[in-house]
Amino acid sequence: MMANITTLAALDTFAAVCAEKFQTRMSQTGLLTVYLKGDLGSGKTTFSQHLLWHLGFSGKVKSPTYTLVETYEMTSSSINHFDLYRLDDPEELEYMGIRDYFVVPTRNSEFGEIQPPQLNIVEWPERGEHVLPQADLSLYFSFDGSHRTVTLVEATDTLAFDIAQTLQEHTDVAIQ
Ligand SMILES: Nc1ncnc2c1ncn2[C@@H]1O[C@H](COP(=O)(O)OP(=O)(O)OP(=O)(O)O)[C@@H](O)[C@H]1O
Ligand SMILES: [Mg+2]
Repeated sequence: MMANITTLAALDTFAAVCAEKFQTRMSQTGLLTVYLKGDLGSGKTTFSQHLLWHLGFSGKVKSPTYTLVETYEMTSSSINHFDLYRLDDPEELEYMGIRDYFVVPTRNSEFGEIQPPQLNIVEWPERGEHVLPQADLSLYFSFDGSHRTVTLVEATDTLAFDIAQTLQEHTDVAIQ
């Protein structure tokens, strides 16, 4: 499934629908991992910014290019935004404690501590191949100089279909 992203407004609409669907899914599973793939400048960080705003974050969204990860803690969710472009070796992920970021948050602790559901979004996941855990959904961003598209690919279930259907029925973002 592919969405045509003609303008920044269309990207915002796409991000709004993703935010809603991701929030529902995260609430069910506790943890959702989404890979953001595509060439330099194809719109991965811009999408992440709009997604974070639609998930309730109101501050400045920084590109995690140098820090590898930026974390946003909110009451309804905790979001880790990774950018692995500058990773030289996937092994470096072990040193940054990558596994800790992929532990499903506890929701019914005997101490009454309830952690919000977690979303991991990863730019340049290819750089972490074999060490980085698998994604639930991959979004492929493409920009050929005039047209922008996002292709949704999912191995196991219906999140991509659900997003595409809502875009088709309730927005002016065209789906192919
Ligand atoms: N849908 C869009 N409409 C118009 N401009 C866009 C859109 N998406 C992204 N841009 C612009 O394209 C430029 C590059 O986008 P962005 O930084 O999000 O790319 P990226 O995929 O994160 O690149 P990198 O791989 O370098 O991290 C930015 O100036 C951004 O404003
Ligand atoms: Mg980026």
